[in-house]
Amino acid sequence: MEGKLRSRLSLRLVCICAALNFVHVLGRRSEPPYMIACGASKRGADSDGRAWSPDPRFLASPAVADTVPAEAEFQDPSLPSPVPYMFARVFTAPASYRFSVPPRARLWLRLHFYPSSYSNLDPSDSYFAVGVNGFTLLNNFSASITAQALTQAYIIREFSLAPVGSGDLNITFTPSVEHGGAYAFINGIEIIQMPDIFEEAATMVGFSDQAVSVGGSSLQTLYRLNVGGQYIPPTNDSGLTRTWYDDTPYLFGAAAGVTSEADRKVKVRYPPDVPEYVAPLDVYRTARTMGPDPKVNKNYNLTWVFQIDANFTYIVRFHFCDFLLDKVNQRVFDIFVNNQTAQASADVIAWSGSKGAPVYKDFTTYVSDGPGDEQLWVALHPSVSMNPEYYDAILNGLEIFKVNDSNGNLAGPNPVPSQMLLQAEAKADKKFAPSGPSSTGQVIGGIVGGVLGFAIVVSVCLFVRYRMYEADGMTPGVGKWLPLHGSSHSRSTISGKSNASTHLSSLAAGLCRHFSLFEIKQATKNFDESRVIGVGGFGKVYKGMIDGGSTAVAIKRSNPSSEQGVDEFQTEIEMLSKLRHKHLVSLIGFCEEDGEMILVYDYMANGTLREHIYKGNKPPLSWKQRLEICIGAARGLHYLHTGAQYTIIHRDVKTTNILLDDKWVAKVSDFGLSKTGPNINQTHVSTVVKGSFGYLDPEYFRRQQLTEKSDVYSFGVVLFEVLCDRPALNPSLPKEQVSLADWARHCQRKGTLDDIIDPCIKGQITPECYKNFTETAGKCLADHGLDRPSMGDVLWTLELALQLQENPDSTSAKFVVEHEDDVQRSMAGTDGETAMSGEIHDSNLNAVFSQLVNPSGR
Ligand SMILES: *[C@@H]1O[C@H](CO)[C@@H](O)[C@H](O)[C@H]1NC(C)=O
Ligand SMILES: *[C@@H]1O[C@H](CO)[C@@H](O)[C@H](O)[C@H]1NC(C)=O
Ligand SMILES: *[C@@H]1O[C@H](CO)[C@@H](O)[C@H](O)[C@H]1NC(C)=O
Ligand SMILES: *[C@@H]1O[C@H](CO)[C@@H](O)[C@H](O)[C@H]1NC(C)=O
Ligand SMILES: *[C@@H]1O[C@H](CO)[C@@H](O)[C@H](O)[C@H]1NC(C)=O
Ligand SMILES: *[C@@H]1O[C@H](CO)[C@@H](O)[C@H](O)[C@H]1NC(C)=O
Ligand SMILES: *[C@@H]1O[C@H](CO)[C@@H](O)[C@H](O)[C@H]1NC(C)=O
Repeated sequence: MEGKLRSRLSLRLVCICAALNFVHVLGRRSEPPYMIACGASKRGADSDGRAWSPDPRFLASPAVADTVPAEAEFQDPSLPSPVPYMFARVFTAPASYRFSVPPRARLWLRLHFYPSSYSNLDPSDSYFAVGVNGFTLLNNFSASITAQALTQAYIIREFSLAPVGSGDLNITFTPSVEHGGAYAFINGIEIIQMPDIFEEAATMVGFSDQAVSVGGSSLQTLYRLNVGGQYIPPTNDSGLTRTWYDDTPYLFGAAAGVTSEADRKVKVRYPPDVPEYVAPLDVYRTARTMGPDPKVNKNYNLTWVFQIDANFTYIVRFHFCDFLLDKVNQRVFDIFVNNQTAQASADVIAWSGSKGAPVYKDFTTYVSDGPGDEQLWVALHPSVSMNPEYYDAILNGLEIFKVNDSNGNLAGPNPVPSQMLLQAEAKADKKFAPSGPSSTGQVIGGIVGGVLGFAIVVSVCLFVRYRMYEADGMTPGVGKWLPLHGSSHSRSTISGKSNASTHLSSLAAGLCRHFSLFEIKQATKNFDESRVIGVGGFGKVYKGMIDGGSTAVAIKRSNPSSEQGVDEFQTEIEMLSKLRHKHLVSLIGFCEEDGEMILVYDYMANGTLREHIYKGNKPPLSWKQRLEICIGAARGLHYLHTGAQYTIIHRDVKTTNILLDDKWVAKVSDFGLSKTGPNINQTHVSTVVKGSFGYLDPEYFRRQQLTEKSDVYSFGVVLFEVLCDRPALNPSLPKEQVSLADWARHCQRKGTLDDIIDPCIKGQITPECYKNFTETAGKCLADHGLDRPSMGDVLWTLELALQLQENPDSTSAKFVVEHEDDVQRSMAGTDGETAMSGEIHDSNLNAVFSQLVNPSGR
């Protein structure tokens, strides 16, 4: 009887449950993918055409007053589209979203944040936690601080959530209690069901017999890179809508190897055991290898450096596909993670079985707290002991995931905005020594836990770990300096010079010295014409003496009658005050008084490069001097392009913008036209054509699309100017010779380049050096940006050219690479050993490898 009752009860329960379940299913029939534009009132599409829906029906308690929709006060120009960023849901008390999801499925969760002023709330008051089904994804999170540190307008956080049993996903936003008046906000939520890409246990670095399984853990994507390739938008990554970024910002040093792309004839396709969702083929079709010279390769590591949080376990996933070689033991290399061997003797062909077949490997490593940590180093080096056919290494893609700790926590601290570091540095450097403090720290293009990384940017900042930071106890209020995006926005609203000062970010103001007009007049003898050392579009440049006549400076005064320079003036201050590099002209300070806009720089005793090649009657520079100057300028530009977390495009590279100090060190100057470059959803910056004729990238001119390759083009013109000793444009010559770029390429094709090189240096150039130099200069002038080398490649080749100039007998060559941090790394080749033993059989390869095997025309 009792049993019967019980079974009836349970039957009824089952029925009720089934009915409830049915109602539940009817009521919220939806399933992932979800794309939710929080706070929006209607559906909208983003720039990739993906549709986002409003959020009310997913709110667990939609009617409460402390959960309100809001609109951002202004639209940052670097937002890829208004959807989902212009609307937000703001929470002043804990609140949850609930989504129905398939049980036991792994999910991608992407949270989109655009820190802005919503409902008149101060973005710097927003501190909150985000929790999902027992996992803490973010804690004490400030989107505003994070965005500032990364110099991004918006932030995307991507998580891979451990499978949930219940079929309910409960995302809770909780304003921090420690911070009075804190609120939480969210702009967009994406939920996508994903295959379990973390099924297999990954080897623990340093413990080859130990494997870590993360089946029940949640992970955060920190980095996802298409190594040696370009940005891949979410729409090009199957249904998983992942974004893949270029790896160059994370490369350590100038030794960046070379990039290559699979030839059309090589079939890159998934073998049966590698599912398509692991990574799109576009990732496998491009790669970075170490470069052509086995001796050089043997003596350096191809290294990437990433910023991460300490006290977490990381999974580092390497994607490989060798589309150049097809035999085992041709390219064998060691993989290091944080200076420990993760894998000795990696051989991609041995793993994948054939040419063009993708394969991936996971390693895990625990990063503990300690000095110099919070960085993850990934390095590749040829396995010399295996005696492979080539001393080389290859990598096609790299992903870094953070694994939750034993408490289910994934949250790390807010990053320390790099501006703070810089401000500290500027304060510590009270004397503003003319040479500027050289950055002795390592230059690291890393980001703190941002999957978006370098991509979205308006302004410039650094990643240099300044030691002074610790020493200086400054604690600038976060709201004290304008958000960089704000200042770049307000720039466009400037109507007259008189109010310009209010628009200069106080950050820039804090970073460099402020001169009074009186001081400037004293320094220049009231702008005495005899002190004019240059005249440009901006106005005149005077030589001045400051600090009681002890320091020579160059003083650039904007033409008082022109309104034109305001933007340039501010751009230059903002850029230069934050950029410091041996090969960039240092800004010492500025003066903004009485409608004057004056910039004060280091004085460059030897003037412009142009004066020393064909203008004026200075003694001609030797070939080696010219080469060293080109290398310095290339290094400055390479730093602009990749040294920061994002690209800065100079836009006006020419011989008059390459200055020489008293020791003939080349410094790139004139950032008035600089643009920070490609935005997240673009591979170029659309802009009004500016720059100087004779140097203008034809592609930029045609399509008004600016990329860093536009600078490479202009630099190619500079290289030919230096080689041929003539101006970029010379209208007095016959028509076909007017443009140096066209003429040099014409001569190069005809094989008559020899005839136009400067007779003064003709006898000085060694054939090997000449070959490298002219080939690279020619490639810089390729019609299409994609066909031009990167500035890093140009730098590398010029260094090789110098090496070959000084020591044509390359078998005893000593290759020296000077890194951005100016640490000299000697890469001494060992005599008598060579990696190049076998013959290449595949005819497809000949073209590629004739270049690789015989890089220096030996
Ligand atoms: C969601 O989770 C939070 C805490 O994690 C809890 O307070 C809340 O009741 C949950 N909501 C639902 C609808 O389960
Ligand atoms: C994305 O895919 C489309 C179509 O396959 C292709 O035309 C486009 O070049 C791809 N974009 C990138 C950046 O790979
Ligand atoms: C890491 O853990 C150690 C020991 O538990 C602790 O002292 C340290 O503060 C933690 N570091 C971070 C960045 O959380
Ligand atoms: C790895 O070695 C480099 C020097 O080769 C050092 O600067 C760096 O701090 C090391 N990284 C770690 C995580 O130990
Ligand atoms: C490459 O990195 C490994 C691990 O950090 C280190 O032991 C080795 O010395 C490095 N080799 C070179 C040539 O820098
Ligand atoms: C991640 O969190 C889950 C749930 O709290 C836990 O079971 C798992 O062990 C954690 N993972 C690690 C690697 O600690
Ligand atoms: C929250 O973050 C801010 C900014 O990074 C930091 O100053 C503060 O100490 C943090 N608070 C807690 C409780 O961790």
